[in-house]
Amino acid sequence: MTRVPTLRSFDEFRDAVFAYRLPRVLLTALELDLFTALGSRSWTIPALAKRLHVSQRGIEILCRNLAGAGVLKKQGASYRNGPVAGRELNGSHPLYRGAYLELLRSQWDDWSCLTDCVKTGRPLDHEDPDDPAYRRQFSWAMHQRSMDVASHVAKQVNLRGGKTLLDLGGGPGTYALAFLAANPGLQATVCDRAPALEVARQIAAPLKQGRRLSYLPLDFMAKTIPGRYDAIWYSNVLHIYSPADNQWLFRKLASALNPGGRLLIQDGFVLDRQGLYPQEANLFAVTMLLFTEGGNTYHVEDVRAWLREAGFASVRSLKMKKGTEDWEGGLLEARL
Ligand SMILES: C[S@@+](CC[C@H](N)C(=O)[O-])C[C@H]1O[C@@H](n2cnc3c(N)ncnc32)[C@H](O)[C@@H]1O
Repeated sequence: MTRVPTLRSFDEFRDAVFAYRLPRVLLTALELDLFTALGSRSWTIPALAKRLHVSQRGIEILCRNLAGAGVLKKQGASYRNGPVAGRELNGSHPLYRGAYLELLRSQWDDWSCLTDCVKTGRPLDHEDPDDPAYRRQFSWAMHQRSMDVASHVAKQVNLRGGKTLLDLGGGPGTYALAFLAANPGLQATVCDRAPALEVARQIAAPLKQGRRLSYLPLDFMAKTIPGRYDAIWYSNVLHIYSPADNQWLFRKLASALNPGGRLLIQDGFVLDRQGLYPQEANLFAVTMLLFTEGGNTYHVEDVRAWLREAGFASVRSLKMKKGTEDWEGGLLEARL
């Protein structure tokens, strides 16, 4: 398990606090759309300042820091995009991850309100999860977040001959499509709010395996889940809901599975006895405090217990090859 450096000395504590400087530099570059402006050529500072309508002094200091961090390359007095900046951060490139970057960028102000959320235990007054424009944008962000990892995960999860898969809260369908690509005999259904499914349809349209994907617009908490499936994939949704909501949903999912069916849960589980690691899972709980009524990240043993109470006979963690997982130790398989 990855252990994060503990902050034992004052200097280590100070460095951890002051680490906000580079993220702020990166976000300002995104806000200026600097990487798109740089495109595929080299720029002097005066030309870049003119192009972006910003001060030469400001952009020189920004670019110097971006080059120092390896995001830009400096040649003489000119700057150009490094490989990631030229692709994933560049709005003119097909691999641009604009929606996901915008999600990360927009959370800077939200995280600054953390103290209030800690005081009240309540989330920020935020976008309505049912607002269609917000949901479409969020779904693109989710696709851009998991487009690489989904195929690695899908190739390693053995569906054991299952013919039908429900991707519950599947958003853009990235995981459903990856499972379909890895399992040629599989039919999948992606269940989510209608605007998320519009994005899923757009992503699936040019893909061969997209013909085996069906769409189920439904609030799965409020409504009965129609049909029965050999496998249910519940990825990155557990953390949105409270323990009670998840336990209630697990009982409902048990009756949406065929005999011998399996529920696969992917999330940022807390793994150690004291509940302190992995750090990424606990930091994600902070995101849930900011944005959800009752969400959190959960200890893997608690989730196992909820599953057994819901009628799942065998529950085990699935191991992924290191570096190919969505979350460290983040996959549970529960069988009826
Ligand atoms: C964080 S995203 C995860 C998307 C995808 N499963 C993944 O792993 O990348 C959570 C998704 O769950 C959906 N969701 C949450 N609660 C829902 C509900 N009650 N009914 C339908 N969809 C829901 C959201 O709309 C969103 O698309």
